[in-house]
Amino acid sequence: MESINANSEEYDDPILYDKENEPYIEDLSYLLKWASASKTEGLIIDLACGTGRATIPLASKGYKLIGVDIHKGMLDEAKRKSSNLNLQIDWVEQDCTRLNLNVKSNLIFSVGNSFQHFLTNEAQDGLLSSVNKHLELGGVFIFDTRFPSTEELLQPVTEEYWKKNVDKDTQNKVDVYTISTYDSLSQIQHYTTIRKFLNKEGKIIDEQRTNIRLRYVFPKEMERILLDNGFEIVNIFKDWNETPITNDSYGMIYVCKKTRNIK
Ligand SMILES: C[S@@+](CC[C@H](N)C(=O)[O-])C[C@H]1O[C@@H](n2cnc3c(N)ncnc32)[C@H](O)[C@@H]1O
Repeated sequence: MESINANSEEYDDPILYDKENEPYIEDLSYLLKWASASKTEGLIIDLACGTGRATIPLASKGYKLIGVDIHKGMLDEAKRKSSNLNLQIDWVEQDCTRLNLNVKSNLIFSVGNSFQHFLTNEAQDGLLSSVNKHLELGGVFIFDTRFPSTEELLQPVTEEYWKKNVDKDTQNKVDVYTISTYDSLSQIQHYTTIRKFLNKEGKIIDEQRTNIRLRYVFPKEMERILLDNGFEIVNIFKDWNETPITNDSYGMIYVCKKTRNIK
């Protein structure tokens, strides 16, 4: 019940999270480009860093990072993975809507569509004012969020096949299905993810269900939120190859610059 309210059921098994998400590396080279371009002197902040999927590879290139997440289990796994690597990372357990790190950076990012965890307008403002507070004037904030296309929002309320995952250690297969219900008033999509674990003969041997709520933000709405929180939009891409956004995009990647202090 606790993790349903905390919207963290997807993160209660950090090992499974990594098995499913570590192969995703599309954002890393773009982040590295900004890391080398910015005057960070190595200090970069990764907000909602999870198990350090992006934090650890950046630190491996010699940058000094702070990885912040609210979920102790995800952070413990991040610490475990990085413990023998001799990297400069501070792992901090905090709520990003009320961030208090006592440092300033020229580069802050939040990837893996974590922005969608900030479900209410107040939570989004909390996150963005926290970013403003920790960013130097002229500093850059990069984040991604799924594109609210009609196709994305109006997914079937019935169980739909999504993908097959293959466990890289055991080669066991997992069929993944989703049920999606979109609430147009709150702009929140409720996803139930159903994982059907198969044995070597393809027979289902276990089934797990997890729930997650994700907020969607429309591009014109995002413009206003960012402006209100002291940011100028430098670029909006639909992918990490810097392709300009179009109507058929799946994602929105925002590159913003802090233009003023808001508090
Ligand atoms: C989809 S994961 C992304 C993790 C990582 N950035 C990545 O790309 O793999 C979302 C993360 O956001 C974290 N999160 C959600 N709400 C948060 C909050 N208010 N403050 C800090 N972290 C939060 C979750 O605990 C989870 O680790």
